[in-house]
Amino acid sequence: MAITIFPVTPDFAAEIGDVDLSQKISVSDMAEIKEAFWKYSVLVFPDQILTQQQQLSFAEHFGPIERERTLDPKATPSRFDGAFSDISNLTASGEIWAEDSRQRMYKAGNKLWHTDSSFKRLPSVCSMLYATTVVPLGGRTEFADQRAAYDALPPVMKQQLQGLIAEHWIATSRRRSGFSEFTVEEQQRLPAVPQALVRTIPQNGRKSLFVASHASRIYGMPDAEGRALIDDLIAHVIQRQFVYSHRWRPNELVMWDNRCTMHRGTDFDDMRWVRDMRRVTVSDIANSCEQEGLSLPV
Ligand SMILES: [Fe+2]
Repeated sequence: MAITIFPVTPDFAAEIGDVDLSQKISVSDMAEIKEAFWKYSVLVFPDQILTQQQQLSFAEHFGPIERERTLDPKATPSRFDGAFSDISNLTASGEIWAEDSRQRMYKAGNKLWHTDSSFKRLPSVCSMLYATTVVPLGGRTEFADQRAAYDALPPVMKQQLQGLIAEHWIATSRRRSGFSEFTVEEQQRLPAVPQALVRTIPQNGRKSLFVASHASRIYGMPDAEGRALIDDLIAHVIQRQFVYSHRWRPNELVMWDNRCTMHRGTDFDDMRWVRDMRRVTVSDIANSCEQEGLSLPV
């Protein structure tokens, strides 16, 4: 039986039914899932019961898994090994985190519009977030379509942006959300990196903006001017017509294309309700500047 696709909009976000991700997926079903993914950029798979290994096996269809933790595990212990990011509000021992915990302070940055791993030299192609326990109020994940936002720019603006390179740095988004407690090891391992400001998605040829709260400046532009341009572009991308707001159900997997979407988690009462989610992130094939044929700044 073929998979079933229920689009949220004609070309952004879709629910996928009639597939069990815990089982071996047929070649034809996988081809349809990938085709849907390149088209819609956000796919929702309801009613999935997945072990960690099953989630990993599905993710591996899209490329190699990121296995390096962003935070130093010694400073911030996690329930999971390097292949999973813990997107819950739980400590390594499974209790609700403390109000002033390092985990909570760091993850406050996830409420800013961002794309996963653009602060890494080798960024990410996609993330897959699996929810087992969800909260009754709030705690949505919102997605913004950076392809549609690019399409909507005036032609003169598209020309101005072509070939520009932004610097992405995890410290930029975290400073904005009030976290600055990076260890020396984390500072050394997470330097600022270049990313193309406009990129092309190879699977469909669509152009997309590639901005996020990690973006700090534009190479070759005065800092204040670059910062203003980044802020303007983010404000443009997150306009309501480009955004899908996802309300989570238990046992749901959502995957998104980090190359052409931004997302953010919305607030919930994290000292009251348990939200249990784990994320697998798939690496891209190269830095976005290399993919666009742009010279990497020194
Ligand atoms: Fe994220």
